[in-house]
Amino acid sequence: MFIKCIVRIVYSVYIKRMVIAVVAKKGGVGKSLISLLLYHSLKQAGRSVELQDWDAQGTATKSRDLTEAERKAEASAEIVIYDTPPNLSHTATDAAIRSADLVLVVATPSPVDVWEAQDAAKLAQKTARKKAKVRVVFNKVRRNTLLGRVLDETAKQFSVPTLQTVLSNRECYQHFAWQGWKALDSTAREEVLQMTIAVLGTT
Ligand SMILES: Nc1ncnc2c1ncn2[C@@H]1O[C@H](COP(=O)(O)OP(=O)(O)OP(=O)(O)O)[C@@H](O)[C@H]1O
Ligand SMILES: [Mg+2]
Repeated sequence: MFIKCIVRIVYSVYIKRMVIAVVAKKGGVGKSLISLLLYHSLKQAGRSVELQDWDAQGTATKSRDLTEAERKAEASAEIVIYDTPPNLSHTATDAAIRSADLVLVVATPSPVDVWEAQDAAKLAQKTARKKAKVRVVFNKVRRNTLLGRVLDETAKQFSVPTLQTVLSNRECYQHFAWQGWKALDSTAREEVLQMTIAVLGTT
């Protein structure tokens, strides 16, 4: 599997696609959700996009199999998204970071997650290609809580910029894994669209 992973990643770089690596040191922060949301929203926008799942848990693969009636192989997709395991020293995570044009480090506002995301951001800065961008994206944000209200202060604790848009904590995002786009209400769709625009705007 790892050899296949490396070969596909090198191939992606060679044919000059935009490569987005979605990473975190921790599990459960929303890497797979964000990979899937970006994949579906870019597809909705008519972009040619490929999602590669390099986590043995296979969350992104399972969800995509459930939510896409038929999938055309995007052999030459203009955008490639890598969903990675919750382990920065994993071969697949390392290869994804090294090949990315944009490394998205996923963090929740919880202090414990922020510490781990700070480590991830530093490692990504060190490992990624010189021209690559590294950005933190906040997920599971609840604006009406203390941690939600101090998010701008929290963002300053990172060595890299944070995306201006965040993903809120919403139940419909949990349904998204098995229902896809139709699970999202209009507010969530707008939020995802804003995140997608912010992601595309970084490169
Ligand atoms: N913004 C959100 N609002 C509500 N639930 C969320 C949100 N983001 C993620 N979740 C839920 O949190 C759980 C973990 O999300 P996800 O599987 O995307 O994390 P992960 O970082 O990929 O985890 P792992 O490293 O274990 O693969 C899932 O049940 C998912 O539905
Ligand atoms: Mg995952």
